[in-house]
Amino acid sequence: MRGLFVTVEGGEGSGKSTLIDRLYAHLTLEKGASVIKTFEPGGTPFGQLVRELLLEKHDVQMAGKAELLLFLADRAHHVETLIKPALEKDMVVLCDRFTDSSLAYQGGARQIAKIDPKIEEVCLFATGGLIPDITFYLDIPPEEGLARIKRGKDRLEKEHLSFHQRVRENYLLLAKKHPQRIVVLDARKTTDEVYREALEKLEATCHAI
Ligand code: TYD
Repeated sequence: MRGLFVTVEGGEGSGKSTLIDRLYAHLTLEKGASVIKTFEPGGTPFGQLVRELLLEKHDVQMAGKAELLLFLADRAHHVETLIKPALEKDMVVLCDRFTDSSLAYQGGARQIAKIDPKIEEVCLFATGGLIPDITFYLDIPPEEGLARIKRGKDRLEKEHLSFHQRVRENYLLLAKKHPQRIVVLDARKTTDEVYREALEKLEATCHAI
C-alpha cells in the first residue's frame, strides 16, 4: 500500500478544517494530485449513524469504553471502505481526526488509558495497524479554541474546561512520544502562517517517503 496518509488533529476551534481545505486546494489545483478529504467521526454513511449516536444524543448516558468503541467502529469501517482503498490507489488522504483523537479524548481526557493501558492495541486493531505518514496537531489553549465556536456545541464540546485541558495535555504527550510523525503547529498564529508551516513539513515528508 502506498499513497500518503495525512491526519489533522486538535482541540475544539483549532482551525483543522481551514488547514485541510487549504492543503486540499494546493495538492489538487497546484500539484494535480488525487486527493480525498475526509473526517471522523462520520466519513462514511455508516459513520454518519455512529456520529449521531456519539455527538447528538445529549441526554443518553454513555460509558467511557462504549464511547471509545463507537469511535473505533466508525474508524474501522472508514479505514476498510474508504481510506485503505484510496491509499492502495496511490491517492493522498487528508483526514480530519484519527487515532490520536481517541487517545487524547477517550484515553487521556476520559482516562480510559489509566484503567487499561492496552487502549493503543485496541486502536491498532480497529485500523488494522494503519498509522498516518504525518499528523498535524493544531495546538491552542482550550479557552481560546472554545470561544471561537459559533455554532451550537455537541456532546463532547459541552464537557468542562478541565476535560479540554486534559485533551490538550494528552495531545502534547503524544507529540513528544512520536516526534517523527506528529508536527505541532501553534494555532494562535494566522491561518496563513499555520498553512505555510504545514506545507513545508508536508513537502519534506513527501520527499522522505
Ligand atoms: P466534530 O463536530 O467533527 O468537530 P471537530 O473535529 O471540528 O471538533 O467533532 C468531533 C468530536 O468528537 C470532537 O469533540 C472530538 C471527538 N472525538 C473523540 O472524542 N474521539 C475520537 O476518536 C474522534 C475521532 C473524535
